[in-house]
Amino acid sequence: MPYASITGWGHYAPPNVVTNDDLARHMDTNDEWIRSRSGIRERRFAEEGETTATMSVESGKRALDRAGLEPEDLDLILVASSSPDYLTPPVSSQVQHGLGAPGVGAMQITVGCTGWVYALVTAEQFIKTGAYQNILVVGTELISRWLSWENRSTAVLFGDGSGAVVVQASDEPAGILGHVLGSDGSGAEDIIVPAGGVAYPLTHERLDANEYNVKMNGREVFRFATRIMGSALDEALARADRTVEDIDLFVPHQANARIIEYAANEAGLPHEKVVVNVDRYGNTSAASVPLALAEALDEGRARPGDTIAFVAFGAGLTWASAIFQLSTTVPALASVTAGPEQKTAVTEAGV
Ligand code: UT7
Repeated sequence: MPYASITGWGHYAPPNVVTNDDLARHMDTNDEWIRSRSGIRERRFAEEGETTATMSVESGKRALDRAGLEPEDLDLILVASSSPDYLTPPVSSQVQHGLGAPGVGAMQITVGCTGWVYALVTAEQFIKTGAYQNILVVGTELISRWLSWENRSTAVLFGDGSGAVVVQASDEPAGILGHVLGSDGSGAEDIIVPAGGVAYPLTHERLDANEYNVKMNGREVFRFATRIMGSALDEALARADRTVEDIDLFVPHQANARIIEYAANEAGLPHEKVVVNVDRYGNTSAASVPLALAEALDEGRARPGDTIAFVAFGAGLTWASAIFQLSTTVPALASVTAGPEQKTAVTEAGV
């Protein structure tokens, strides 16, 4: 049975940096509140002309370059996003077209902030069965256009961005050792864009009432997140027959530095193994895990053969975790891996 190896990665963040002070000029908030509650210092907001499709194409191209593949080498493109360019068509087809991958199968996966981990697990199934050899797995969100500046507790948390990996069939041991995919639809209203779907089609009244904006029950999601991060990680480790000590790099969903800190402390993970970039990007939903992974790999924070733990949670409510082993023979990884001192680098917000 072939193994699923991550052979390329890339990320794209819009150049437009929006600081907490910038937000404070438009709504009743302040840098101190945002930093102390979430660890966020700044985020990126897409500018006119940028969309989920264009950002996905950028990060996808970078991942393909790293893997040494051309778009037409792909067998499948998966795009995790809850903020696609249109309700229909799926953004995945625009990404396929934008990349220049004629006729390649493409699928949008919408599972809130958890979507990219679901997509990675999906990609692995196609590789393991031998159906496909080369799959692009993208996570992209452009949530800033769905935020209401009248809803300050939610608006300050989110940002835009994209991350992507190439997953390729390989004879060398690699891939997902254990995973968990979970869902609890009874929490639907905890993170929701109420109008614009078929339940409540968009009307002028609903638009005026800000019902086409993201609404979140922050306290409830915080409680859910701190509970589920630990249990999803433990369960994936048990399925992988591994322990926390086997984790070389922990790449959690970047929703809030306090949630990451809580999860890392509960698991007993040392700071240097935890990837944190929520301070610079805010919560980029389905883009957050691949964006954090791509930055960490660029910084040489993982070596060939390392074991990476992914954990995410989000709208649905949903959660997912995966224990992923990197191959020992990935050319792109060998080229960025430097001395051991680089592995201890943590970001300024480091938990
Ligand atoms: O991927 C999706 C995952 N989502 C999340 O992970 C979100 C999880 N939840 C959270 O991170 C936190 O619940 C928040 C950061 C959203 C909020 O933190 P909190 O400690 O739960 O604050 P709160 O909502 O209880 O609000 C506390 C106070 C309130 O004032 P009063 O009623 O105590 O006077 C709010 O009105 O903070 C006020 N507040 C703000 N003040 C300044 C709320 N938002 C802001 C703001 N700036 N932006």
